[in-house]
Amino acid sequence: MNLILLGPPGAGKGTQAKELSVRHKLVQLSTGDMLRAAAKAGTKVGIEAKAVMDKGELVSDEIVVKIIAERIEQPDCAEGFILDGFPRTLNQAAALEKMLKDKKRKLNAVIELKVDYNRLVERIVGRYACAKCGEGYHDRFKRPKARKVCDICGSTEFSRRDDDTAEAVTTRMLAYYRDTSPLIGYYFAKGTLRSVDGMETIDKVAKDIEGVLAVRS
Ligand code: AP5
Ligand code: MG
Ligand code: ZN
Repeated sequence: MNLILLGPPGAGKGTQAKELSVRHKLVQLSTGDMLRAAAKAGTKVGIEAKAVMDKGELVSDEIVVKIIAERIEQPDCAEGFILDGFPRTLNQAAALEKMLKDKKRKLNAVIELKVDYNRLVERIVGRYACAKCGEGYHDRFKRPKARKVCDICGSTEFSRRDDDTAEAVTTRMLAYYRDTSPLIGYYFAKGTLRSVDGMETIDKVAKDIEGVLAVRS
């Protein structure tokens, strides 16, 4: 099964992709995570991308398409994947379609997380992650079970993203409206779009996504 999770910054794409990947044994492919890893590793692409990401702008189609094209060739993607944060432009969607066609694979569903834009900033500024294992948390909505201790690995070090500032968030939202939101119409027209209410609790959203997938298969 190959899926896309579509939604603006803070919609919950990463949160749901991670849970879905565990439940369905699919690989989570987050272009944001991959670019951040490249930046951390200090590669040329990573350093260039970081400057763009920190401002909240989109990295070039050329770079992200190449990253995804190489990644889905890996054997672990053969059983299926969840794209989290890709495609983000109509050009990227066209490139993905070609990649899948060449590999004789198909897109099973595009899941749109419908959200109340006014509440996204609160989600984004409250977000943090374990510095060791990357598990995501939120100051209000997803706290570790023990205070300041990661549920997964026990680390007490946490970090926040450099692009989770108020200025970068405004630019990220604009980029979403300008470049990514047309994908909703695009996939609706193709008949693959399925929408769920992303303002419900994390567990309810996960349940609703399962409901949508059950209807599909
Ligand atoms: P990326 O990393 O993809 O960031 P984003 O799209 O801005 O999305 P976020 O990761 O901020 O939000 P999310 O939807 O994953 O929400 P999350 O689950 O964390 O991209 C970063 C940058 O990389 C881009 O700006 C761009 O520069 C570049 N880039 C990446 N892909 C690209 C591409 N294809 N093309 C060009 N450039 C690209 O949830 C947010 C918070 O809310 C968390 O704390 C979570 O715990 C909490 N939460 C989640 N769900 C709920 C819920 N239901 N109720 C309450 N709280 C919730
Ligand atoms: Mg994310
Ligand atoms: Zn951890």
